[in-house]
Formats: sequence, C-alpha cells, structure tokens
Amino acid sequence: MFLSFISQKGGTGKSTLALHIAAIAATQGHNTLLIDADPQASAMAWYACRVKNGHPAIPNLTVTAINNGTITGQMAELSKAYDFVVIDGPPRGDLIARDVILASNIVLVPTQLSGFDVWAGDSITKTIEELRPIQELAAKQPLDWFYVVNKKDPRTLAGKTILKALENSTDHVLETHICARASFVESTSQGLTILETEPARSRARREIEALAEQITLLITRRQQERAAA
Ligand SMILES: Nc1ncnc2c1ncn2[C@@H]1O[C@H](COP(=O)(O)OP(=O)(O)OP(=O)(O)O)[C@@H](O)[C@H]1O
Ligand SMILES: [Mg+2]
Repeated sequence: MFLSFISQKGGTGKSTLALHIAAIAATQGHNTLLIDADPQASAMAWYACRVKNGHPAIPNLTVTAINNGTITGQMAELSKAYDFVVIDGPPRGDLIARDVILASNIVLVPTQLSGFDVWAGDSITKTIEELRPIQELAAKQPLDWFYVVNKKDPRTLAGKTILKALENSTDHVLETHICARASFVESTSQGLTILETEPARSRARREIEALAEQITLLITRRQQERAAA
C-alpha cells in the first residue's frame, strides 16, 4: 500500500502528518518505509535530528529520500520489501509530484480552513484527477484521494463555515480533522512524534490515531472491493 501526502501549497502539514502516520503504522507492527520526496528534505531532517539527539529508532520504520522522480520505477521492489509506504510529497505540482501521485494508491491533500486555502481549492487535485486514469491502468486498482483538514481551530465560526463550503464543493474530505496544536511543533522539532511526547488519552494523540484508523478503514474497504471484483 502506497499512501502519499501532497499539496500545491506549502506548509499545510504534509511532512508532519506523513511522519506521524508512518510512525503509527510501524508501531502497529507493519514494516513501513517513509519516503521523503521533497528536495527540501523535512522528513530526513526530522530523522537526522532524532538520531543526533540520541532517541532510539522506531521499530519497523525506515526513512529514506527519493526525490528524483523514480519512485514509480521502484514500486515493484518497494512493495516486496515493505508492507506500507508513506510518501512525504513536495509543495508543487512538478515532475516529482507527478511521480508521487503515480506511485500512490491513496493520496491525502492536507488543507487549512482559511478562505484562501479552500476557495481556490488545491490545484494539485486537478493534477491527481488528470493522472488518475493513467495510474489506475498501470496499477490495476483505484486511486483514491482526499483532503485532510489540518491545523483546525475549532473555536472559530469562520472555520466551521469554510469547512461546510469545502464539504459542499467536494465529496473528497476525510471526516477526521487535525487541530492546530503546539505539541506537533514541539515534538517534531526534537525528532520525535507526539506518540512519544503526549499522553495516550490526549486530544492530539486521539486525533492522529483516529486519522490512522480512518486510513486503515479506507485500505480495508479497497481490499474488500478488490476481493469481490
Ligand atoms: N496540526 C498542527 N498543529 C500545529 N502545527 C502544525 C500542525 N501541522 C503542522 N504544523 C506545523 O506547521 C508547519 C508546517 O508543517 P509541515 O512542515 O508538516 O508542512 P508541509 O506541508 O510539509 O510544508 P512544506 O510545504 O514546506 O513541505 C511546521 O512548523 C509544523 O510543525
Ligand atoms: Mg514538508
């Protein structure tokens, strides 16, 4: 299973969500690869910071950089070696982004609930739609994509109105939202995840674990559909 995080806009939370979802999958026992496909290399920097600070490796998690547009060509090999591949994509719709999309079974597009973010949509979704038939023909399975609301401020009325506008404009919005929480900045800045810095019952943990659970449900649904076909 190849899951990617991508958006045309910068700073939406691609790296933060990708490394957390990869860490959760690894902690659950899946042999997981986190690919940093962004030449900016935030996920690699996060992992280097982890090593430098002497934090132990996360069991079952490998982190690597492939930012030269060759993930699609390596898919057969990667799917033999790993149960789950999470790709942290670049904030652009360039050739690397196209490689990331073509290598994905599920694409998640993190978005913030500001008018500017939602009104124009994220143009990467047009690229995903454009590439979808090519990817589906090659992979012989569907390519699903969804917006993931990130850095939500539940207190603002504007946020609720904008969320409604987003949900009215498309069916591709995941039900699980991730709120803006300082714990994401604090943990990732030390090379950690909130799984290591926040208590199990904290809201931040429950939200990110709910997102992981929703992704698992999407994967299970796809497997059932394939088995029935
Ligand atoms: N839910 C959240 N709550 C608070 N801060 C967050 C949250 N998600 C991400 N951030 C912070 O927002 C900033 C941008 O996040 P991140 O680097 O993950 O985005 P990105 O989409 O990967 O950015 P880029 O486009 O530059 O690759 C970082 O400082 C990160 O710590
Ligand atoms: Mg990033």
